[in-house]
Amino acid sequence: MLKFIIPIVVAIALFPFVLKFIKHKSLYPFMPYQYNFRRRRITFAKVLKLLTERNAKIIVETGTSRKGLEGAKSDGAATIVFGKWAKENGAVLHSVDISEDSVEGSRNEVKQQRLDDVVTVHLDDSLNYLKHFKDDIDFLYLDSYDYSKTDVDIQKKSQEHHLKEFKIIEDRLHKNTIVLIDDCGLPGGGKGKTVVAYMIEKGWEILINKYQILLVHKDSL
Ligand SMILES: C[S@@+](CC[C@H](N)C(=O)[O-])C[C@H]1O[C@@H](n2cnc3c(N)ncnc32)[C@H](O)[C@@H]1O
Repeated sequence: MLKFIIPIVVAIALFPFVLKFIKHKSLYPFMPYQYNFRRRRITFAKVLKLLTERNAKIIVETGTSRKGLEGAKSDGAATIVFGKWAKENGAVLHSVDISEDSVEGSRNEVKQQRLDDVVTVHLDDSLNYLKHFKDDIDFLYLDSYDYSKTDVDIQKKSQEHHLKEFKIIEDRLHKNTIVLIDDCGLPGGGKGKTVVAYMIEKGWEILINKYQILLVHKDSL
């Protein structure tokens, strides 16, 4: 009897740990195992691969990693993840944010991670910043105006804002540019609803449509 009971008890005792392990979506070995990128893991991993394949040199992010790496699970910590990639691959990352607190939080983590030679965090409205951006962009990450799961007015404003960002910067994109939009798999269509519809009309194709939407231009496929 005991030879049946012991394995069952052990299995029950281990179940929470196994579940936690399965749910933990790390980017290991690129990022330390402890950071859980959850619903963004699949798109971040694909972008990291594309950045290398396409030899990206200039990365631009709207909305910065205000919580540093501690925000891996909630916000994504993209400034640090793609900043690390930039450092290891001779690229640079520009991250822009309208909030002084967000910029301060992000700058602190950038410094802490020793990425400040390749990552610059700018304090500005993304629309104004992008209007003056002169270089061609190899990877554009849109993640600014915070979305709401319930407030339809905020949803629309956020969607409009991300569309405006794209329209302002689209002439700085080229056929190999990678575009990632955060917080899409949400009620009301998420941050990407309007901009993705516009991009598709302009010849962009969706590579992954999950919590985030990843697009490349059809001429690059
Ligand atoms: C979700 S957070 C960005 C998270 C970050 N991309 C990451 O991966 O950790 C959104 C940020 O967008 C910023 N934001 C909101 N409206 C903005 C605007 N008009 N221009 C620039 N940043 C804006 C907020 O201050 C906030 O820090």
